Formats: sequence, structure tokens, C-alpha cells
Amino acid sequence: MSDSLFNFEEEDARARHKKLVAQIRHHDALYYQKDEPEISDADYDALRRELEDLESKHPELVTADSPTQTVGAAPARGFKKVRHSVPMLSLSNVFSEEDVGDFLDRIRRFLGLAENESVGIQAEPKIDGLSCSLRYENRKLVLAATRGDGQEGEDITANVMMISDVPIELPDEAPDMLEVRGEIYMRRDDFAALNKRQEEAGKQLFANPRNAAAGSVRQLDPAITAERPLHFFAYAVADDSVLSAKTQNDIISTLQQWGFVRAEPFDVCDNEDALMAYYQDILEKRPDLDYEIDGVVYKVNRKDWQERLGFVSRAPRWATAHKFPAEQAITRLKDIEIQVGRTGALTPVARLEPISVGGVVVSNATLHNEDEIRRKDIRIGDMVVIQRAGDVIPQIVRVLTDKRTGEEKEFPYPDHCPVCKSLAIREEGEAVRRCTGGLICDAQAVERLKHFVSRDAFDIEGMGTKVIELFWEKGLLHSPADIFRLEERNKELVCHSDPRESGAEESVASDKRSFAGAQDDNELRPLQEWEGWGEKSAENLFAAIQNRRTIELPRFIYALGIRQIGQATAKRLAGHYGSLEALKTAMDAAQDRESEAFADLLSIEDVGPAVADDLLGFFAEDHNREVLADLESFLTIETYEAPAASDSPVAGKTVVFTGTLETMTRAEAKAGAESLGAKVAGSVSAKTDYVIAGADAGSKLKKARELGVTVLSEEEWKQLIGRD
Ligand code: IVH
Repeated sequence: MSDSLFNFEEEDARARHKKLVAQIRHHDALYYQKDEPEISDADYDALRRELEDLESKHPELVTADSPTQTVGAAPARGFKKVRHSVPMLSLSNVFSEEDVGDFLDRIRRFLGLAENESVGIQAEPKIDGLSCSLRYENRKLVLAATRGDGQEGEDITANVMMISDVPIELPDEAPDMLEVRGEIYMRRDDFAALNKRQEEAGKQLFANPRNAAAGSVRQLDPAITAERPLHFFAYAVADDSVLSAKTQNDIISTLQQWGFVRAEPFDVCDNEDALMAYYQDILEKRPDLDYEIDGVVYKVNRKDWQERLGFVSRAPRWATAHKFPAEQAITRLKDIEIQVGRTGALTPVARLEPISVGGVVVSNATLHNEDEIRRKDIRIGDMVVIQRAGDVIPQIVRVLTDKRTGEEKEFPYPDHCPVCKSLAIREEGEAVRRCTGGLICDAQAVERLKHFVSRDAFDIEGMGTKVIELFWEKGLLHSPADIFRLEERNKELVCHSDPRESGAEESVASDKRSFAGAQDDNELRPLQEWEGWGEKSAENLFAAIQNRRTIELPRFIYALGIRQIGQATAKRLAGHYGSLEALKTAMDAAQDRESEAFADLLSIEDVGPAVADDLLGFFAEDHNREVLADLESFLTIETYEAPAASDSPVAGKTVVFTGTLETMTRAEAKAGAESLGAKVAGSVSAKTDYVIAGADAGSKLKKARELGVTVLSEEEWKQLIGRD
């Protein structure tokens, strides 16, 4: 039964109104200011609908600042999803002059350039806004999309049409198809004025210009976006082969001629000194710029070099962001708490007296591990310098020892897990202490469940960390497969608690009000009767779970939460083995370290001996195999084919490079082959499709000949992949 069906008396209506307004404001704040909604779009809409219904029945409750009166203030939800034609990437970061030198060295090494050869780098500001991709077809803007997860964003075309820096039409010389990438941002003065207007109207204030820009493009009503002064800087073209420009700088100049705006000041630098001079200059100009920046971006200027350099995981090798130093503040360390992660790692967390650092209130900081506490001589009660940079978790930089009163207490680092009390040990050479409780440790189990449902794993809408914790406390969840048993279990609870059966109508009604997740309630009620839940939200959750019963293999592998298996590696494993069945078979065979299967596992990019150990350890554990079998009984796990980067003739082929290559470095050859969908292996076997033999090729070439594997020269390889 939904709450909205209650027949409210006057007083109840007033109380309900107050509660609804508070709830909607709370969710608006999470959505607008933190970009971290707690409830689904549908649930949010249901709250608003209920408020509207209530106000139409009780017009005396309508106040000027009711969310129903702030026209268009409803956050736009449910934008159409769009897949990017070329993924929207992120950038790696550098923080020091030394890092900048390393970045340039890496590029030189990859391209095989001499040490003194200059690599022209275009430097420009890194704007703190939100990235956007603009698609032009026949020179007309047809689609604008947010970055989203890089693969899939939201269609914000109607709103972006309102931004004056975005040309709606391009001149005749522009190509038929063009995708321009850039940053939507709000200027500082416009941000201040907007917040003033918000305040006067009694509306939510935005935390910073970036959130204001994000909140503004997410308006369902483009007329509101039109009133919000947004701007756009263009910084890239998705597939720039459609342009005749030969350098990054020319690409952006061309865009400028077609009506786009570029971020200034920019420069093309020839060496590290010039880059550092540019960086210093911008750092000094930063306070006077009209917009907020969080660093500068360096991009290899030559396009042909960019192409050769390609990408690693989600970032280009040819670009990096040089971040500005973190902002600092001083506060008191109130306490240190130990958190236990999904792999059993004990992490100390500093609880701080809340303090604003660069506009964000900070009350927790990471302490990394026990050595860090000892090295910095951190004691409870100390005054500490904390810093935060960008989105990273705040850190304690140092202790102000001269502020000590003698009352401060050293923190005795636990050698037992604070949750399951098992011994926590530190293996040799490891910085982290780990709980040895494994499967009996509740903390690890809960963290594993949170990971399982998280955005990049099963991504079950409405099942966030709070919900997992609550269900765990109620004993509804122990292992991941229990998630798929929830609906059935809930149905059983509905039968048991049916008042007609128990004859306890009264007590059901009163229990319902007091339930509030009560721990001592022995009898579990169906979800829709818990406080904060209704028929609709329970239904939505079960539907979201049902929805994910068919799952992509990379997500499934990642969701298992195996140590060191992040998203990128999960994808590589999925691409390499293709199905869960094949993965399991291969892992069984690879338990023998002398086997072909083990060598094959190590040939996968990102999989070294340590990663292989964790992976094989996971599959060797009986309990894990039971969990897998249990999950498989509920799920359809799709087979996976690594998307061929093109319809290239080497997609899906296994190749081995051997000997000295002349026109490219080994790293470049490997990355190039992989970008075309080929698998690059370290040793020759009957499964090898091509061996590319450079000068002085030895035993691998011999083996290839013996096995009858096709051997190509470097030239022939380049012809095959169309890069001759
Ligand atoms: S280039 C492949 N240039 O920073 C190149 N990004 O941390 C991808 N950003 O998602 C980005 N200013 O939204 C580039 N001048 C700039 C930028 C910039 C801001 C953002 C962008 C990206 C994020 C990566």
C-alpha cells in the first residue's frame, strides 16, 4: 500500500506536506549540489506527484517556496541515453616538474625519438566544468551529449542549443560529419549572480560553478537553461581525420574559424622548460581568470604522433593534465577509525572537526596505512594540516607539533579485525594489514556486496550502499545470489504478515509506523511496509534486479571483486576468453603453472604473475565456485567479443612480435596491434596467427616455422594493417 493513498485529516495533511517538502529539498540538494542522488528518478517523481496531489486537495498548504511553485526547478530526470561514436576519455595526471619530464620521456621512448629531439606540446587551461560532445551532420548541430561513463552519455541537445558559444550551424567548408568535444562551464561572476538570485528566491544554492553548470544543463525545461549563463570551450574533435589540419593547434584554430571558442591563454611549447614557464604563468593568472581551472593540459601537437601514441585504458598517451597544488586548511583530528574493505584491507580513516577546504566541507581524511600514521607521528587530538586536490580524498599533510598540549594520544594500531576479530596480518613487503577472516568477516562480505551492485558492476538501480547495509542487518543478504532471491523471499513475508491470516490487523498498522528499520523486530515484515519504502519503491527495486539478470561478461567478472581485477582487466579477460565457461576451464587448467593455459593467461595485457595469482587463487577456492554456480543459476551471462577497433583484418588474431623492429618501438607495435583488436602474445604456440619478425629474430621465429605459423616482415605487417 502506498502512503499517498492514506486519507489524511487536516493535521496529518499538514505534517505530510512538511515532510514531503523536506524530502524533496533533501533530494534536490543531493542531486544539484553533490551530484549524488540517493533515490531513483521514478521515486523522486512520485514524491513530487504526491506533493502536487496533496496541494490540490489542500490549497491552504501551498506556500510561495513550495517545490511545486518554483517552476521548472524540478531537476530534469530521465534524459535519453546516447552512445558515443568514439569514447569520451579522461586524462592522466601529473603533479610535479619531474612528472612532466617523465611524461615527455615516455612519449620519446614510445615514438623512438632521440633524447634531444623536441616534441611540440600544446598547453592550455584545464577548465573545471563538464565535458560535452557535439555532433554536427551536414553542418547542423543534431546532438549534444554529456560524457556519462565515457561510452554512454545523456542527450542534452535542447539545452545545449541555448548556449551562445555553441554554433547551431557550421560554414560550408566544414565536413559533413563532425563531432566537437569541449567543456561546458559557468563563469565566476555569473555563478555568483545566479546564487544571489537563487538565495533571493529561497532556492537551493549551488556549491561551485561546476555544479551550477551541471545542474543547469540538466534542466528538463530548456527555457531555464536559457536563463542560466553557460559557456562552452572547444578542445578536441572526436575523429579528426575528417579535417586537413596536421596539428592539435590547427584543429582548434579551424574550430575557432567556424565559430567555436577556445580556452585562452594557450601556447605551443618545445621543451620541458617552456611547459613549466607556461604552467607558472597560468598559476599566477589563475585568480584573475573569469572561469575556474584546476590545472593545465598538455597535448602532443603533431596529429600523426597522437595517432601513433594512441591510448592506455581510458586516457590518451599523448596528453596529460598538470594539476595545480592542493588547497590546504588546519583542523583538529578527533579520532581514528579502522575501515575494513572488500579484500580485507584495514584502512585508517581520520575523523576531523569539519572544516572548509577550497569551498568544500571536509570531515574525514584518509590515513592510508599504519606506517603513514607512524611516519607522520599522528596522534588523536592533534592539530593537522589537511589538503584536498580535485576529486581525491582529503589527506593529512602533517601535524602541527608545536600546537600539542600533551593531551594527545597515540593510536594503537589494531592487529585484529575490528569487525570479525580475526587476526589481521601484514605480509612481508606489503604496506597494508589485512583481516584474515575471509569468508567469516562481515565487513568484507558487506563491502563485496556493495561492490557487486555498484555502478560499473551490476549497476542495480535503487540498491546503493545504504540499502545493502540495511538488507544485511536484516539478514536478507549474505552472498550476491541472495539479491536475486529477494523478491521470492519478500513474497513469503507478504503471506506471513497478511493480517487476515494472523488476525493481527491492529498490530500490523502500529508496527508499520514504528518499524524504522528496528533491530529488535524479530519478525521481518515485507519490504513495502518498511519505513521509507512503499509498494512502488519495492516494486521498482525488484524490477531493477530482474533487469540485471542478463549481464555482460566484463561486468560480471568485475563484480566478483577479485583482488587486482579492475574494470580494464575484467574487460581484457572477457575479451580473451569470451565466455564464463571458457574462463573457468582456463583457470582450472592454469592452476598448473607449467601449463600452456598459464602462459596464455600471462600473455593478456595487464596480467602479470601477481594478478594471475589472485585470479587463480579465487577460482581455486571451493566456496567461490559455489557462489559462482549459485549466481549462474539466476543469471544469463552473455558471451563477449572484444569490440574490434575496426573491421581490421587482424581483429581477434593472436600475434607475436619478435626481433628488432625498425620503424616502431615494441611498445608502439603492441599498442597498435591491440587497438585494431589483435591479441599480442609473448610466446609462439599453435594458436598464434602471425609472427612479425624483425632483424635478429631467433627462437620464436624458429618455432613459428616449425609450427607453420605465418611469418611476416615488419613491412608486410604494416601493409596488412593498412599503415604502410
Ligand atoms: S582533453 C582525449 N582539454 O578534463 C582528450 N580536457 O580530466 C580528453 N577538460 O573529461 C580531454 N579542460 O572534461 C581536455 N583543455 C582541456 C580540458 C579538458 C577540461 C576536462 C574534460 C575531461 C577531463 C579529464
